[in-house]
Amino acid sequence: MSIHQENHTGVTAEQLRRRADELDRRDALAHYRDAFIGTDTPLSYLDGNSLGRPLKRTAGDVAAFIRDEWGGRLIRGWDEQWLNMPQAIGDQLGRAVLGAAPGQTIIADSTTVVLYKLVRAALAAVQDPDRNELVLDTENFPTDRYLVEGIALEEGLTLRWIEPDPAAGVTVEQVRQAAGPRTAVVLLSQIAYRSGHLADLPGITAAVHDAGALVVWDLCHSAGSVEIDLDGPDVDFAAGCTYKYLNGGPGSPAFAYVNARHLPSLNQPIWGWMGRKDAFEMAAGYQPASGIRGFLSGTPAIFGMLAMQGTLDLIEEASMAAIREKSLALTAFAVEVFDAWLAPLGADLASPRDPGERGGHITVDHPDFTKATVEALWEGDVIPDFRSPHGIRVGLSPLSTSFSEVLQGMAAIRERLQG
Ligand SMILES: Cc1ncc(COP(=O)(O)O)c(C=O)c1O
Repeated sequence: MSIHQENHTGVTAEQLRRRADELDRRDALAHYRDAFIGTDTPLSYLDGNSLGRPLKRTAGDVAAFIRDEWGGRLIRGWDEQWLNMPQAIGDQLGRAVLGAAPGQTIIADSTTVVLYKLVRAALAAVQDPDRNELVLDTENFPTDRYLVEGIALEEGLTLRWIEPDPAAGVTVEQVRQAAGPRTAVVLLSQIAYRSGHLADLPGITAAVHDAGALVVWDLCHSAGSVEIDLDGPDVDFAAGCTYKYLNGGPGSPAFAYVNARHLPSLNQPIWGWMGRKDAFEMAAGYQPASGIRGFLSGTPAIFGMLAMQGTLDLIEEASMAAIREKSLALTAFAVEVFDAWLAPLGADLASPRDPGERGGHITVDHPDFTKATVEALWEGDVIPDFRSPHGIRVGLSPLSTSFSEVLQGMAAIRERLQG
């Protein structure tokens, strides 16, 4: 790109490059990039909101686990440490990321399975036969929609769909209109997977409670990108994945949050030995373990929990407030470059302009964007995500993404549009 090359807003490529350099220099979290594998290569990774980069320490942590714990302690490892890991890491996650007091968060299953168990547990907690509706929205992640459709079929319930603006997300007003005396449970994502819209979690939780219903939040795109407070607004249930901003690795297990006030009567649908009171009694009949432990079903995925611990340590050190501040600066810069380079080429910002309504990613729509566009970008070591029907999603993971990396990626997207 020539340094004299101008765009329609009059900002030169050189000015944007100097600005990216300046933002990198002023970035208080910049040093954390060194903690991740691959950040010293020329690749532009704009998909850390789908699969986070690995931490350098993870290789050592996994090797030590194999050698000392699995290899050294063998089956004794379960009693000595592993059985407690889902709760111990859950508590750290609650403290560092979720605004959740201890004893309410646990690592288990996949997000899909956890959400299924939570929605069923929420339905069991409602105990009012007149409340036979589930509220959800058309822009939620597919798995959320599918699993609620399945539960509605199983339980003979009615679905009430909110239809949000695809470039924004569900509002408090829409929830107030949809939820009423027939509503049992509302399932929503705090950050919309496509637009990146950040929902008003306290406002919507209050609206659901005012309607006499319970709320289940999907935090997949918010855990590790925005400050979350689950206890403050008295959220009922929440779930999320750990392979995005928490860098747990491909297929690392999910987390579940159950508000302490629901725990004494928690009734989740997959009764397995690990969720039973004294699993090794092997006795007849299921009696749930007390507290959040009763949410477990089968053997916890210990291996899958090793990597996320490193990120939780980093988050506790850096603080979610500082991470959110950098996340806002990253998306603001991405929008600035979008305005300068992509809008003049006919692209639309399919994400909120108001930073207060934005999570950690933005989506850019253009009729010419196809899966092949993103494949070509990947071949050139620029890695965003394709989102149907014609969106490129630019995900900015605050601990591992630099401003220069954003500029490099956006420049490559512009080149694809220029043909
Ligand atoms: C918002 C959201 N919900 C749910 C899921 C599904 O998670 P899992 O595949 O772990 O079940 C994802 C996966 O990317 C997601 O982004």
